[in-house]
Parts: sequence; C-alpha cells; structure tokens
Amino acid sequence: MTYTDKDGKFKRYTVTTALPYANGPIHIGHMAGVYVPADIYCRYLRLQGEQVFFIGGSDEHGVPVTIRAKKEGCTPQDVVDRYHGIIKKSFEDFGMTYDIYSRTTSETHRQTASDFFVKLFNDGKFIEQTTQQYYDEAEHTFLADRYIVGTCPVCGNEHAYGDQCEKCGSSLNATDLINPKSALSGNAPVLKETKHWFLPLNEYESFLKDWILENHKEWKTNVYGQCKSWLDNGLQPRAVTRDLDWGIKVPVAGAEGKVLYVWFDAPIGYISNTIEKLGDKWRQWWQDKDTKLVHFIGKDNIVFHCIVFPAMLKAHGDFILPENVPANEFLNLEGNKISTSRNWAVWLHEYMEDFPDKQDVLRYVLCANAPETKDNDFTWKDFQTRNNSELVAILGNFINRTVVLTHKYFEGKVPACYELNDVDKKAIEEIATYPEKIGTLIETYKFRDALFELMNLARLGNKYLTENEPWKTVKTDARRTSTVLNVSLQICANLAVLCEPFLPFSAKKLQNMLNLSVCSWTQAGGVNILETNHTVNKAELLFERIEDEAVQKQIDKLQDTKNKNKAQVLQQLSDTPTQKPQKANISYDLFEQMDIRTGVIVSAEKVAKTKKLLKLTVDTGIDRRTIVSGIAEYYSAEEVVGKRVAVLMNLEPKQLKGIESNGMILMAENAEGELSFVSTQKEFGAGCEIR
Ligand code: 2FM
Ligand code: ZN
Repeated sequence: MTYTDKDGKFKRYTVTTALPYANGPIHIGHMAGVYVPADIYCRYLRLQGEQVFFIGGSDEHGVPVTIRAKKEGCTPQDVVDRYHGIIKKSFEDFGMTYDIYSRTTSETHRQTASDFFVKLFNDGKFIEQTTQQYYDEAEHTFLADRYIVGTCPVCGNEHAYGDQCEKCGSSLNATDLINPKSALSGNAPVLKETKHWFLPLNEYESFLKDWILENHKEWKTNVYGQCKSWLDNGLQPRAVTRDLDWGIKVPVAGAEGKVLYVWFDAPIGYISNTIEKLGDKWRQWWQDKDTKLVHFIGKDNIVFHCIVFPAMLKAHGDFILPENVPANEFLNLEGNKISTSRNWAVWLHEYMEDFPDKQDVLRYVLCANAPETKDNDFTWKDFQTRNNSELVAILGNFINRTVVLTHKYFEGKVPACYELNDVDKKAIEEIATYPEKIGTLIETYKFRDALFELMNLARLGNKYLTENEPWKTVKTDARRTSTVLNVSLQICANLAVLCEPFLPFSAKKLQNMLNLSVCSWTQAGGVNILETNHTVNKAELLFERIEDEAVQKQIDKLQDTKNKNKAQVLQQLSDTPTQKPQKANISYDLFEQMDIRTGVIVSAEKVAKTKKLLKLTVDTGIDRRTIVSGIAEYYSAEEVVGKRVAVLMNLEPKQLKGIESNGMILMAENAEGELSFVSTQKEFGAGCEIR
C-alpha cells in the first residue's frame, strides 16, 4: 500500500507514456518531460509492492511520416521501422522498465482501434459531415493540408502550407491560399465533396467540466489551467477521419480511401499494447474502477489526453478515465527551444556513444531540472556541475568513504552497533523519515523535490561520517568506530533502495557492492538492513568526474549546429528579402510623446471565440489595466503570467471583441512572423520608463 493511497483505494496502476512519433529519434526534451518521470513513478510503485502495467510504444501514423518517406524516397513503413527500432533501443539503453513497448502499425492495434471506432459508430456517437476539400486529380487523392502549397493571403509568401504560413505564422485553411498547388503533382487541386466522421465534443462539455474542473482540482496547475481554458472557450465537433492512404482504414462501408485520424488511433494504442501483452487479462487494467490510470505526457498533448481521449472513452462506455495527467512543460537546450528540424537537441543515441555507461548521470540531471512547473533549460555546464558536485562529491563520495573504511578497519564485514549517543539517535530518527518523504513526493509527481530529498539523505550521511570521525576514534575507541560505521553502512543500504527509481544502474552497482538483495521500499527507513558480520564487496566508484574537455566537445558540437543553421538562414535571407524597408523619419518630439514603460503581466485569459487574442491584466507601476493582445498563437494564457513586458501606455483605448484595451504590449516579430515579448535585459520591475 502506498502513502497517498493509504485507504487502499486502488488495487493496480496502469501507467502510460505518450507514444513518440516514429519519424525521428528521442532527445533529452522527451526524456525530461515524459519518460524519466514515468519510469521513476513505476519503479517506485513496484518497490512498494504495487501491481503496475507500464505502457509505451511508437506512434506510427500521421502525415509527417508520409512526408518524410516521400522526401527520402522510401515507404512510410520503412520510415517507421527504422525509427521504431532506434527509439526502442534508446529506451532500453536508458533503463525504461516498460511492460510492453509496441507500435501502432501492429495488427493488434489495427483491430483494437477499428473495433473502438465501430462501437462508437454503431452506437451513433459520431456525426457525419460533408465538406469541400482539395483533391489532386492527377494523383487521384484528397490532399492533407500540409500537402497544399500556395500564396499566403496575409503576407504574400508563395510557399505557405494549407494549414499554416511559416513566414508570417498565420494559421490558415487550405481554401485561404491564393493559387494553391498540390505538393504531390504540382497541379492546381480542385475542390471536391468528402464525408467525414466527427466526435461531437460539445456534447461532452458538461461532463468534462464536472469531471475535471470540479473533481480534479488536484491536477497540476498547468494541466488544470489548459483544460479550463479549452472548456471555457467551448468545444467543437472534431473530425476523427482523414482522406489519406497511410493509417488505419476506416472500418465502415462508404469510407473507401479514408483512414482514422492519427490522434484517434494513437491513444487507443495504450489499450492495444495491453491486449498484445496480456491477451484476455487486459480488461482489469482498463475497465476495473479499482485501477488507477495515469498518463505521462508533454504539455502539447494535454488537450488530447484530458479532453479528446476521455470523451472517446466516455462515449465508448466501458473504460475507466485517467486519475491524473501529470504533464510537464518543455525543456530548452542552452537557452533555445529544442528543435528536430534545426538539429538543436541532445539525441539519446548520440549521448550513449559519447558517454557510455553514464545513463544515470543524464537521468539525474534531467530529473533535477525537469520542467515540472515551467519551461526549464539544459546546459552542458550544469550537467557537468551536477555530476561533479552532486553525484560524485555527495552521493559517490559518501558511499566510497564508508565502504573503504569498512574494509580498512573491519575486513569488509559490517561491524556491530554498540551504545548509541544523541548524535546517532538523531541521525537514525532522521533516516526513518526519508522513505515516506520521498514516496509522497513521487506520488504527487514532484520528482525534482523527491530527488533533492534523496540527495539530502546522502548529505546527512556525509555529515554524520565527517562529524564522528571514525578514522580518529579507531585509535582510542574501537566500539565507537564500529557503531559509526555500522550506522553509515545502514545509510548506504537505505540509499541503495531509495535511489533505485532515479538511478537504476547505480542502484544495481551499489546493491552489488553492499551484497544486498533489495526488493522493497519498506526495507528502507530502518538501520538494520545490513546484519552485523555481513560481508560487503570492495568499493567501486559509482560516478566519475566529467572533465572540461568532454563538456567542451558537446558545446562545440552545438556551436557547429548553430553556425550551420545561421548559414542556412542567411542563405534563405539572401534568396528572399524579408526585412521590411525602414519607415520615414519622425521628429524627436513625436517620439517623446510616446509613453513606454515596463510592466508585468499579472493575469491572462483567452478571449472567447478568437484564435489570436489574450486578455491581459498588466501591472504598469501606476495602475493595473486591461490590454488585449494578439499573441495567443505564440503564448498560452498560463505561460504569460509573470512575464516582464514593455507597454505603450498612451495608445488611445480601443474596443476589441467588446473589451476595452488600454495600451499595447510591444512585441518583436522575426522573419517567420513569430512573436516574442520585448523586455529589459536586467530584471526591472513595473513602471520604469523606456526611452
Ligand atoms: O506528440 C506526440 O509525439 C504524439 N505522437 C503523442 C501521442 S500520445 C498517444 F496518444 F499516443
Ligand atoms: Zn504569411
């Protein structure tokens, strides 16, 4: 039984991790956001004696796979076979303890997803709608939005896609494009009627509001906030089918040439994978209300796991709903957003080549820096510092000192524990608190804090050893030395159990060193894990220093990437002049009339029924005012709160969607049309004049 479920509410745990798209390898952002926390959670639950079914797999459908295949001149199946292999191997290398890692091109998945669709279809849960969509007559196929290119009606970019113009950032409908062309044949597509099935999410709105907003207030604020903002804006029917040939064929009559939308089939993959592994026994993991279902995902998947998939499960009727969806924010790399297309990432398979046998170091750093409440940054310097000053200097050092001294003074045998003094008693009392402290933090998805507490136990060990100086007492008081080393060894044994979820490879080494067969969390907390006279093996270094050269090599590699990207951008700039010409001169007087000041956004909400607008409350140093800003495509309401911004104060008030906007937030816009706040380089508060 676990700490927060003391009432024995759940008999078993079904834990899922977002199925990564099989069109690229796995990087540190994926690991920090989703996979490391999920693995810690499952390992911990198993050590608690809980029944856990831990599910992973590759998401192999969707348009990006077909685009990649076309680019590489191979089949979509070739693409997903290749990346499924690479991803699966990375997860194995990093110690993910999946009960199954499968894929959405499996036959079991095809069958399961088809059955799910048919059940909803037969029960009348879908609405059918006929819409007009672009069709390529030469290729005899409807075109996904990404397959249509044309001129952006907003900025004139001639290479805009049917869903978005990457130059000005406008999100588009394919029919908005001027002079549209099929990316397949190059011909102008024609509009043709096509029928699709829609899940009327609006019909589930009140159920979702009650289930999430009333009954899951304990969800992480970033998750709860995003759900609230979706639900407050009102839900619309969502198409669950597409006109494509890569995917699971829609299993009903009259649906030739159509497949299930990738976001319809992917989450069903969690269920299919359970069926693939357990056969008939899958039901208890998905249909028994005594099972706790938890989805580990990144923030870009929140709407699908908290709104769309639960609505699908509810519509089906036979399934439990997730008890929690502990989504994380994003991890940046050296101050920049991780990007596959710009190769701005640390790829796991490359890390394994450069740092063989150092999986735990990366697991440690990613957990210590996990973007649990806000986006966070990975830097190689921090990686080095955390390894050298924490893993080596605190954890490794304590264990090494204790085991070496045990061999030096007691021939590797656990010495007896004699009279305890007040210092010992205090240490022992403190040791006893760690399993519950760490356990409760893990169960409430606070993995960083849990790891910090684990290190505090190692800190306690170091302090205890240093203050009691067994190397001095050995000459004067052999019984005291014996007691101190006994207690120190017991702390090592506690660490060997408690570090297993976080640092599984080192835990194994430590357990071998201590000759300890660990099987449960409940072993920890006491100081009688190792019996007197039990033999421990020779000390072996758990962690080694990472030198400047190794880290510099990684920094240089990134600099290389940066240079290549820069060269590419400059090349593109010279190909297509994008900078607007300078405007006509103005007088200094005119400039001085503008009242620009620093401000801080104190609250934000999406303006209903708009794509772009956020209603912001801004502290300007002299007042708190409402400003409506067209930034919603680049910033969510949750993430702007607390941001320091520049405000044009004396712009005349304007009514926007019935809201009076008083002033303007200044934004920088890059060549791609992406918007970014402008703020002071030093952290100035609200109300400073900008001139
Ligand atoms: O965002 C992604 O990488 C998706 N492939 C996640 C899918 S999660 C689940 F639904 F399968
Ligand atoms: Zn544009």
